[in-house]
Amino acid sequence: MRDFKGKIVFVSGGASGGGLGQAKVFGREGMKVAIGDVRQEALDNAVKELIAFGIPEKDILAIKVDLTDRADYTRCADKIEEVFGGPPHLLIQTAGVNSFGPIEASTFDDFDWVMGVCLNHVVNGLLIFVPRMIKAYAHKTEFWVATTSSMGAFMAGSGTGPYSASKAAVNNLMYSYAEALKPYGAGATVLCPGNINSNIGNAEKFRPANLRNTGYHVSEGTMAHLRSIHATGIDPVELGEILKEGIENGRILVLPDHTPELRAQQLRGLHQTIEDYTLTAAEREAKAAKQAEEMQKMFAEMAKAAKERGEDAAPPPTMGWGVPEGAEPFGMARDDLDWIDPSKKLHK
Ligand code: NAI
Repeated sequence: MRDFKGKIVFVSGGASGGGLGQAKVFGREGMKVAIGDVRQEALDNAVKELIAFGIPEKDILAIKVDLTDRADYTRCADKIEEVFGGPPHLLIQTAGVNSFGPIEASTFDDFDWVMGVCLNHVVNGLLIFVPRMIKAYAHKTEFWVATTSSMGAFMAGSGTGPYSASKAAVNNLMYSYAEALKPYGAGATVLCPGNINSNIGNAEKFRPANLRNTGYHVSEGTMAHLRSIHATGIDPVELGEILKEGIENGRILVLPDHTPELRAQQLRGLHQTIEDYTLTAAEREAKAAKQAEEMQKMFAEMAKAAKERGEDAAPPPTMGWGVPEGAEPFGMARDDLDWIDPSKKLHK
């Protein structure tokens, strides 16, 4: 899809972070911009930001909607047609939340909240909008569906269960739509960022009242920690530009990153791990031992080079995220869960 001007875009989760950046970018292309979000105050602020960004007020529609509620989401779709005269030509589903903790500590509320927003809202939107989009636009004009997933779609840690499961499902769903929409002259794009400078670190504050029974340790301190990580993420408008470039070039998968080579190396490693399961157990063990030996050799060489430069031995690479002052580690279990290993609790 290359032709945006005068068309309609709907961005879910468009009141904040990545979604607001996308609304700005496509609004700047001359699209009529509808944003849907569950937080009215954030929507009001987003409208002000969009106007300040240069998007005419008449081209902005902000809708308060709980995207996990199918009836509410359907009402939101009806409102877009009523105000802008048709369904969106570009559907971007970006709303998301995160919550981290040991998978074995998870409650049904943890799964229902994270998967409800990160996966089910995407399904809801596709089922509500795609038939309307096909009827209105197939073979007449370009249209497209996009979703913001995550690098978490490709990797699952023991503390990111519901989030990475939902994002992996979203990716596969979008591959299906990319193929399915071809005969209608359309396609699909899934954006997988690593880190966005957004407000997702505060997501727990807005967890719905009926889904608050979490198995994870959540506090002001864990949220402060998450905020400090996301503050180093990609700028949402820059991310929106990368998505636009991906859609213009018909890319199914968009992997935005400041360090593409490092990301490519990481993905090659992940694919290699999967491929290695086709080997026998003995072959895999031998391969892993050889890799561990090579890694040791590499660290020894790094240490030797550092010593020759008169520095202390180079530390092995880490994620680079310490726990900032006044913050607490996130990803721990709630204190009172008696089956959880104490090492996974903050107050052991
Ligand atoms: P954000 O918190 O700034 O924006 C997400 C928006 O979704 C919020 O305004 C929130 O109110 C809205 N939302 C949540 N539940 C909703 C519901 N039931 N109905 C309607 N709106 C709802 O977060 P951010 O980071 O901009 O997240 C956007 C997307 O990017 C998410 O899908 C997230 O998983 C993904 N992502 C974020 C990364 C990051 O580092 N922040 C990294 C990779 C992916």
